[in-house]
Amino acid sequence: MSFEWYMDFVDKKYNPSEEDLIALFKVTPSPNYSIEDAAGRIASESSIGTWTTLSTMNERIRALMAKAYEFNKNYVKVAYPKELFEEGNIPQLISSVAGNIFGMKAIESLRLLDIKLPRWYLKYFRGPQKGIDGVRDIFKVYSRPLLATVPKPKVGMTSEEHAEAGFEAWVGGIDLLKDDENLSSQPFNRFEERVKLTFKKRDAAEKETGEKKDYLVNITSETKEMIKRARLVRELGGNFVMVDILTVGWSALQTIREECEDLKLAIHAHRAFHAAFTRNPEHGMTMLVVAKLARLIGVDNIHVGTVVGKLESPLQEVKDLYNEMTSQKFKGNELTLDQEWYNIKPTFPVSSGGLHPGIIQEVMEIISSNIIIQVGGGLWGHPMGGRAGAKAIRQAIDAYLKGVDVLEYAKDHEELKVALEKWGVSKPS
Ligand code: 6PG
Ligand code: MG
Repeated sequence: MSFEWYMDFVDKKYNPSEEDLIALFKVTPSPNYSIEDAAGRIASESSIGTWTTLSTMNERIRALMAKAYEFNKNYVKVAYPKELFEEGNIPQLISSVAGNIFGMKAIESLRLLDIKLPRWYLKYFRGPQKGIDGVRDIFKVYSRPLLATVPKPKVGMTSEEHAEAGFEAWVGGIDLLKDDENLSSQPFNRFEERVKLTFKKRDAAEKETGEKKDYLVNITSETKEMIKRARLVRELGGNFVMVDILTVGWSALQTIREECEDLKLAIHAHRAFHAAFTRNPEHGMTMLVVAKLARLIGVDNIHVGTVVGKLESPLQEVKDLYNEMTSQKFKGNELTLDQEWYNIKPTFPVSSGGLHPGIIQEVMEIISSNIIIQVGGGLWGHPMGGRAGAKAIRQAIDAYLKGVDVLEYAKDHEELKVALEKWGVSKPS
């Protein structure tokens, strides 16, 4: 239509500068719209444009136009000039490249696959405070996965029962106790009481085992309340807070990252809610984008999936997530972009969700043994109780690291044997 100018935002000859931010989209145009019609709308609506030509446009503003410049089947790259983005402001970045464009009528479905963050943009963020080495240094454990567990039932225990469960799991061989993503401060298990009692049990477990133990305390709540809770964790000698990063939001996560710098607390990022928009292969935003922004802001641990557990986590996605979180120079492929991380520390990948001793080996084979493994039901469902469940998981890891099949190793490891009698090597769903 004569009043439209979307095609001004398509330039297949454009050659991006190092300072441009690049977004890679998978685009399905609505019927009767070409891929260029759709791509022009994406570049326009996510940068300076709108549906009609404007009396207020001028050459200076034109220089800020994003350009859809590379087309490969349904995959489109859009380059954004540096000046479109505020330094240090993640909400504004997402409001731009992942905002209105998902709702445009000319686009049937749209998926933001990856964002290449330019070096100048990275400079305004701290990245992880501890990183993988720093988290491992807390425990002085370097040659095996770190182990975490969530007391199950996931919510419902009293503070006393939660703390007692922690003691059992820590003494059984777990490094980190973790609150579940929907445990915050419910009437039967108030935050302050839970944290005070659980750290007392943590101290007792350290005394009994002679090993360092810690606790991923879920502080998810309103931002000022999260700051209060983080300060209590520090006061009680904890080293970690856990945040449901997507339900608290990017702005709150940035605030908590600043607070945790002062408090010297590592951040464990739970990704509850991500599957609402990351799971559909045609529409939404990938977990890769979520994880990159979380690493940039500065989470120390982040959930990346299991491939074999109860929650959808495709192999290639988990591999890409693992590599993007642990490398300083990520090599892109058809669905991802190259990314240099310069001095931003790596974030510790966490594999969790429906794991048990019979399939831990597969997780390490598929992903790596340089991960944090979190086991909930697969520990607390052990017929001999939580302490035995923890032992069974440690035995499954030992078997893998010794190159012994888990079924063979179970012959002279009772807790592992009992676990395999209950779950075998089944993959829960
Ligand atoms: C458990 C955990 C687990 C956790 C999932 C989240 O039961 O072992 O509570 O359910 O919430 O691991 O899923 P992702 O790890 O895929 O984010
Ligand atoms: Mg959970």
